[in-house]
Amino acid sequence: MSTEQLFEAAREAMALCYAPYSKFPVGAAIRADDGRIYKGANIENLAFPQGWCAECTAIGAMVMGGGKKIVEIAVIAEKMALCPPCGGCRQKIAEFADRNTKIYLCDEAGIGKTMTMDELLPFSFATDTIDKG
Ligand code: THU
Repeated sequence: MSTEQLFEAAREAMALCYAPYSKFPVGAAIRADDGRIYKGANIENLAFPQGWCAECTAIGAMVMGGGKKIVEIAVIAEKMALCPPCGGCRQKIAEFADRNTKIYLCDEAGIGKTMTMDELLPFSFATDTIDKG
């Protein structure tokens, strides 16, 4: 499974976005610990805060498909090169990642920048007080 395939999956996902309000298509593709690729696009709503990001869709697809961990994730936006995941998505990705998980920021040509989870979300919220079992 090459990173090129992950990039292509993110681009395919972006084409399926539902973004009539922002007109800012975003796609994400996760390679999970089960070896499968899970795709997502942003899905907006007339009641604007009810929309959600491409990364959220991909994470939902992964969890429902039986994937447990994000091994690597690619993100692409049509109108922004190397679109960085928003703050909320960083926390959501972190839930299923570890410090060294790779996040690929893409443009039309492919992967343009590779970051680790630790670089994308340093000094992140974590506590042993809440045990996820
Ligand atoms: N968006 C994403 O899908 N992922 C991000 O990390 C940043 C923003 C979407 C949300 C909204 O549909 C559009 O981009 C404009 O903010």
